[in-house]
Amino acid sequence: MNFIPYGKQFIDQDDIDTVVEVLKSDFLTTGPKVKEFEYGLSSYCGAKYTVAVSSGTAALHLASMVLLNKGDKVLTTPNSFLATSNSILYVGALPVFVDIQKNGNINLDLCEEELKKDLSIKAIYVVSFSGNMVEQEKLKYLKQTYNIKILEDNSHAIGAMYKGIKAGSCINSDISIFSFHPVKHLTTAEGGAITTNSKEMYEKLLILRAHGMIKTSGMKPWEYKMQELGYNYRITDIQCALGLSQISKLDNFIKRRIEIAKQYDKFFENTIVKPLYKFDGKSSYHLYVVYIDFSKLLITKEKLFIKLREKILVFKSIIYLLINNHIISH
Ligand SMILES: Cc1ncc(COP(=O)(O)O)c(C=O)c1O
Repeated sequence: MNFIPYGKQFIDQDDIDTVVEVLKSDFLTTGPKVKEFEYGLSSYCGAKYTVAVSSGTAALHLASMVLLNKGDKVLTTPNSFLATSNSILYVGALPVFVDIQKNGNINLDLCEEELKKDLSIKAIYVVSFSGNMVEQEKLKYLKQTYNIKILEDNSHAIGAMYKGIKAGSCINSDISIFSFHPVKHLTTAEGGAITTNSKEMYEKLLILRAHGMIKTSGMKPWEYKMQELGYNYRITDIQCALGLSQISKLDNFIKRRIEIAKQYDKFFENTIVKPLYKFDGKSSYHLYVVYIDFSKLLITKEKLFIKLREKILVFKSIIYLLINNHIISH
C-alpha cells in the first residue's frame, strides 16, 4: 500500500512472545506486569510514581479528580484531542480556552494575562502538541508565581525533551499523562498512564483506578470500604507486557521519526509548505504538521484535502502528516 494511514503500530516477534507468555501465566490482569510496566515508565521518564490505566482519557479523568474541584476554572488549549478539555468537564470544572502560539502549543504569556485578571483560575492543562513540550521555564514561573496546579498532557510526547527535562518527569508540573493508543509512539492497544512526584496524589490515584475501594489495618479480612466514587480504569497484564516490550524499542522509534521529519524538512524546502517547527532536539514527532498559505494557491483547503485523499501519489504533501513507526518496516 502506498498510502500512509493515520496510524499503524510497529509490533515485532519480541512483543508477540512477551504477550503470549502472559496469556499462559496465572494473571491476565492485576498481576506483576502492571507494576513492572509502571516501574519501566517511571525510570524512562524520571518521575517518582506511575499509575497505568486503561486509556489516556481515563488518565486525564483520574488526574482531574485529584487536581480539581467542582467549579474550578482551568486554562487550556483548543488545539488538542477533545479528551483534554472533556476531562475538566467530567469533574464539574470549567475549561477556559487560551489561544495557541505559532508552534501549536498554548501561549503561556496569554495564560499569565488571564491569571492576572482572574484569581479564580486554579490550574493550567497544557498539551505537548505533536511531540513538542511547552517552555518549561515559563511553566515553572507560572506555577510558582500564581500557585496553580499544572497538568501536562504528554499523549503526543513520550520521549520528548526540553533542555534536559524529559516529558513525564513532572519537574514543573503536578501530573503528566500519556496515551498508548496504537497511533502513538508506544502502544498497549488501548492504555494510558499518569506520572507524578507526589506520593499523596499517587496513593489517591491508585484507589480511584479501582472503584475507590480501600482496606485499612483495623478492618476484618473480608471487609473493604468505599469513601470516594472511583472507576474501573485498570489496565491488563496482557497490555502491560506489550507496553514493557515496546519501551525497550522506544528510543529507536523516536530516532526513526526524527530521521523522517528531517527528510520532510528537506522535501518541503523552498515550497509553500512550511513545517510547524524545525527539529531542535526537543520534539518526539508524533505528528509532522505543516502550514500552507492558501492565498498563494488556486485551491481551497477543503478541495486540497479531497484531492490528496484521491491522489495517493501525492501523499507526501498531505496537510497533516503522521510520521509513524510502520515506516521502519518499509
Ligand atoms: C492530546 C491527547 N490527549 C488525550 C488523548 C486521549 O487518549 P486515549 O485515546 O488513549 O484515550 C489523545 C488521544 O488521541 C490525545 O491526542
